[in-house]
Amino acid sequence: MNAPYQDSSLTVAERVADLVGRMTLEEKVGQMMQLNAQGGVEDLVLNLHVGSILHTSPERVRQAHELTPQTRLQIPLLIAEDCIHGHSFWEGATIFPTQLGMAASWDADLLERVARATAVEVAATGIHWTFSPVLCIARDLRWGRVSETFGEDPFLIGELASAMVRGYQGDGLSDPTAILATAKHFAGYSETQGGRDATEADISRRKLRSWFLPPFERVAREGCRTFMLGYQSMDGVPITINEWLLGEVLRGEWGYEGTLVTDWDNVGRMVWEQHIQPDYAHASAAAVRAGNDMVMTTPGFFEGAQEAVHEGLLDEAALDAAVGRILTLKFELGLFEDARHPSVERQAAVIGSAEHAELNLEVARRSLVLLTNDGTLPLSAQPTTIAVVGPNADDQHTQLGDWAGASGQADWLPDGHPREMTQTVLDGFRTHAPAGWTVTHARGAEILTLGVDPEGEFFPDGQPRPKVVFPAAPDEALIAEAVATAEAADVVVAVVGDRIELVGEGRSTATLELVGGQVALLDALAKTGTPLVVVVIASKPLVLPPSAMNAAAIVWAANPGMLGGQAIAELVLGQIQPSGRLPISFAEHVGQLPVFYNQLPGQHGSRYADLTQRVPFAFGEGLSYTTVDYADLRVLEPVLGVADTVRAQVTLHNTGDRPSRETVQVYVRDTVTSVTWAIKELKTYRQVEVAPGERVTVDLALPVADCTLVDAGGTRIVEPGKFELLVGPSSRDEVLLRAGFLVTA
Ligand code: NOJ
Repeated sequence: MNAPYQDSSLTVAERVADLVGRMTLEEKVGQMMQLNAQGGVEDLVLNLHVGSILHTSPERVRQAHELTPQTRLQIPLLIAEDCIHGHSFWEGATIFPTQLGMAASWDADLLERVARATAVEVAATGIHWTFSPVLCIARDLRWGRVSETFGEDPFLIGELASAMVRGYQGDGLSDPTAILATAKHFAGYSETQGGRDATEADISRRKLRSWFLPPFERVAREGCRTFMLGYQSMDGVPITINEWLLGEVLRGEWGYEGTLVTDWDNVGRMVWEQHIQPDYAHASAAAVRAGNDMVMTTPGFFEGAQEAVHEGLLDEAALDAAVGRILTLKFELGLFEDARHPSVERQAAVIGSAEHAELNLEVARRSLVLLTNDGTLPLSAQPTTIAVVGPNADDQHTQLGDWAGASGQADWLPDGHPREMTQTVLDGFRTHAPAGWTVTHARGAEILTLGVDPEGEFFPDGQPRPKVVFPAAPDEALIAEAVATAEAADVVVAVVGDRIELVGEGRSTATLELVGGQVALLDALAKTGTPLVVVVIASKPLVLPPSAMNAAAIVWAANPGMLGGQAIAELVLGQIQPSGRLPISFAEHVGQLPVFYNQLPGQHGSRYADLTQRVPFAFGEGLSYTTVDYADLRVLEPVLGVADTVRAQVTLHNTGDRPSRETVQVYVRDTVTSVTWAIKELKTYRQVEVAPGERVTVDLALPVADCTLVDAGGTRIVEPGKFELLVGPSSRDEVLLRAGFLVTA
């Protein structure tokens, strides 16, 4: 065949127009579908003419690529996967810390390199599209998907998301190592009720514009090629058909021309779950009219959309527009000339390469946050016996976190990634403790068992119910063994946290305490009198018991990826300096939620009758192995117009004997506002290395145009008047220096 759409000398628009003109209705509807490849690919490609597949095992990627040339128009497939902290389900790929862990580095360049390395691995395997990054704002810590986010702050989320999009998309789509990035889940999905996944989000348009939309707007304007739409409704309207959000805001105000993909069966859910559409024909018509392009895993869309056109519910021109956007991606990726089949040679060179392992170690080191330290860390140089105990000390899967290997979304990697690629904490100490030191180990506690849902093994319709978590009871024998191990050691490192069964979609938790026998274990270890270092490997901030809060030190490690165990050992041993800063606040009690730092003023009092509202660890906090004083904050020109830049300086003095990588955080407070507004907001930050004894003056710059609020009418503006610049090492009021500036009209 030699049709104009196959002629690469024509423009993309010409090729799209020619191809759409040749497609039957059935082929157009199929082109808009993305189906689950886990049940096989032949029927999807040959009979349903799907435009895309996801969750495709390596074997099926190969099959799918081979099937495309057998189709009438030979339109290449887009193969998509959730490669969200590395090439999640490709055996032997590099698995980095989770997004929340990486966010603790506050280092956009580092995350861009991680996304680039991921894209290089993904592109070698015949996959074109990753569903990453997540731009949701994590405010309710009970939500099961906190680990997939960059934390609680819209500015930090925008910085890091933008970097990852750049990394994935490389030098543009014609770059053979570029993959499509996805900004998800647009928008407001994380604003759950009670932390319960995918509930209706109780969120106004103004609140969306104030905090939830800005990171998305940023990546839309910067060219993130696809957006995924959340599951949930807002004010009664599922995102899938929210014409205000998709039409007016995204396509209209932001001028977004990229491709929209639904989340998993959003179209079907409107029928069987949300009950707002009578059947698939109506649901499909509504979804296409609202601007959805790719419909993820709704098999009923195939008949439904065709029926909608035949019955006059849907104009075929709307399908043409959606199909055109999908084909545009395929042409721009150059897939008609080179479908980017998996390459065994490229895979051998890049999958899990030494270069990527080195980057992984760097990001793991940077992801660790030292929360408390009475001076026990770093351990002294004397030969020491270290007892490494706890259920997460040697748990490969928890260390990798959700969306990796055996986390449950893919069926072809039941045992996860090769064990030898991961250095658990125990491995880390065994390998990196200096010669002459002794490392001992005891498990100490179990976390949970899985069992049949007390409501029955099956739903009324016969479908199996997912297994439920039963917390393990403290095991006296395990505790006794751990206590004996601790008593015989000079220091005990207790590695606790959560597990994969307590994380993810549909796995929100009602509590935040350490589950199972872990609190009893920590209590018993604390009583031994051996200095206790608590390492928390957990998908999200947990509530820690007094025995942990009073321990010699606490390190929060999120899910630190394949080389996290090495990084943790190095940090405890003082071979690296701690530099991570919290991208999210910890709560003292689940009842304090939500605890994000940028709260609105106006509540009566500042505590509960029975508990403080003070959080144990606040956004931006993290210790180093030295002390750094912040002083002499000066705004250089305190009277400014809206087009000007606030320029300021602050002096940092490292008063200890170890270097520190400081994250100098710049918050703004607008002193009088026309609407209630956040008491302070992060607006920029700088990372600076300060050597022992060194005094450095740090220059800060902040465009006045960023000192905005969203007024009562929903418009983002700068309101002239008095502002305060707050500069320091975290969001805590006590550590922030303040200087005023005035913005004139
Ligand atoms: C549902 C999740 O919400 C989304 O984040 C993911 O990308 C899709 N499933 C595909 O796996």
